[in-house]
Amino acid sequence: MASSAHAPWIQFPSGEERPNLGMGTCGYGVDTAYQAKEVGALRLALDMGWRLFDTAEMYASGGAERVLGLALEQAFRAGLPRDAVMVVSKVLPEHAFESGLVAACEQSLRRLKLDCIDLYLLHWPSSTPLAETVKAFEQLQRHGRIRHWGVSNFDLPQLRELAAVPGGAACAANQVHYSLGARGVEFDLLPAQRVHQMPLMAYSPLDQGELADHPALRGMAARHRATPAQVALAWLLRQPGVMALPKARSAVHLRHNWAAQALSQALSAEDLAWLDGHFPPPRHKLPLSVR
Ligand SMILES: NC(=O)c1ccc[n+]([C@@H]2O[C@H](COP(=O)([O-])OP(=O)(O)OC[C@H]3O[C@@H](n4cnc5c(N)ncnc54)[C@H](OP(=O)(O)O)[C@@H]3O)[C@@H](O)[C@H]2O)c1
Repeated sequence: MASSAHAPWIQFPSGEERPNLGMGTCGYGVDTAYQAKEVGALRLALDMGWRLFDTAEMYASGGAERVLGLALEQAFRAGLPRDAVMVVSKVLPEHAFESGLVAACEQSLRRLKLDCIDLYLLHWPSSTPLAETVKAFEQLQRHGRIRHWGVSNFDLPQLRELAAVPGGAACAANQVHYSLGARGVEFDLLPAQRVHQMPLMAYSPLDQGELADHPALRGMAARHRATPAQVALAWLLRQPGVMALPKARSAVHLRHNWAAQALSQALSAEDLAWLDGHFPPPRHKLPLSVR
């Protein structure tokens, strides 16, 4: 894909490959007064080359999906091929039963103005038995309404439980909080996902903006003529099997985050060791971080 000159690609269990940088949309679609501006930001992102978008029925009660749908519709009309873009959305756990999941997906598709969601995730573990949720995902796949399914906020025991139900091994991804400031997944979840070639989609990769102001990152950022946020993102983009999903509404942030791909290739072994020293990897199991 010419649009992602700097991005290493990440492989899904199906063999499909995508860039390891995608755009989050939590916070989009809250107020229709900002709709035109937000559609503009997403169009800018598409023009810059962003090709993976993460959303959810939960975000602004469907508002984020609606705004993303408008931007994608314009981009497809302008000639962008549908299969150039990967759209990820999420179903609420309370809709994870068979008929509920199918109905929720149909509503997301309407808001997104799409025939098919590329990757549909269970937003966090549900009280509905996993076997029923997997059956519903499979039904949506058979009807061409989703291409792949996965989960979010699952720790290793929950992934193991999922793998044990019929069809559960087809889970295509797990989306969890992972950042320079929250490295707990490195203890066992990320290594296990790597073994199974299941991408880890890192949400809140900037700790919701906190890393952008982190004093420890300023020196390295200055040395690379970059920003602390770019250093934090570049570090994440160096982690094998990980896809980072920063959210930005400002054009400057979108550009900076895109440029973090090049910075990720410029970080030296010394830089990475320095970051390990200031943001140490976990020495024992930690509870899954949730934002
Ligand atoms: N599965 C889940 O349970 C879950 C949970 C949380 C998030 N997510 C997904 O992950 C995405 C990202 O997470 P997030 O939105 O929580 O947090 P984030 O991406 O870590 O941080 C977003 C914040 O950082 C700012 N920012 C972005 N780029 C920046 C840059 N280069 N320099 C300085 N500041 C920058 C943004 O500002 P502006 O917006 O003003 O540009 C925004 O305030 C979400 O949008 C959502 O798609 C999933």
